[in-house]
Amino acid sequence: MNLTQLIYVSKATQLMGMLSLTQILDSSVRWNEAHELTGVLFYDNGHFCQLLEGDRYEILNVWERINSDNRHHILRRLELTAIEQRSYPDWKLRYYGAEQIARHFKHMAVVLDGMPEHDHELLKIMRTIIVE
Ligand SMILES: Cc1cc2nc3c(=O)[nH]c(=O)nc-3n(C[C@H](O)[C@H](O)[C@H](O)COP(=O)(O)O)c2cc1C
Repeated sequence: MNLTQLIYVSKATQLMGMLSLTQILDSSVRWNEAHELTGVLFYDNGHFCQLLEGDRYEILNVWERINSDNRHHILRRLELTAIEQRSYPDWKLRYYGAEQIARHFKHMAVVLDGMPEHDHELLKIMRTIIVE
């Protein structure tokens, strides 16, 4: 497997309630499971940040799906890079919302705002987060 990691930040087209988020998560988890993709999704204050890992071909494929989803628009792709091993082997798509971010990743809340000047810090956090 040509293991690849994708990280991007996007802005929700509309404010997301729990129901809208659940719909995204449900279909994502199903797709990710079937295509051996794993990762995490953060959402706070109208902004998403997602890390996905899997075979390069599958990553490029899901990236197209994600890009054409009009529930958000992509602000920036922060990373598309080869990796040695998965950071989230057990998670088809682990979700972190505002409450969990505030509780576990307070430093992320400050930089998950879509501002380009926060890309570097956001990327650093996404790369180093260990999900229990
Ligand atoms: C923030 C966000 C994250 C997403 N993450 C994934 C993902 O990890 N895997 C995936 O297959 N689709 C992902 N999608 C894309 C949508 O889930 C996709 O449009 C949906 O899976 C289409 O499903 P359907 O063909 O069942 O309608 C994401 C969409 C958004 C807005």
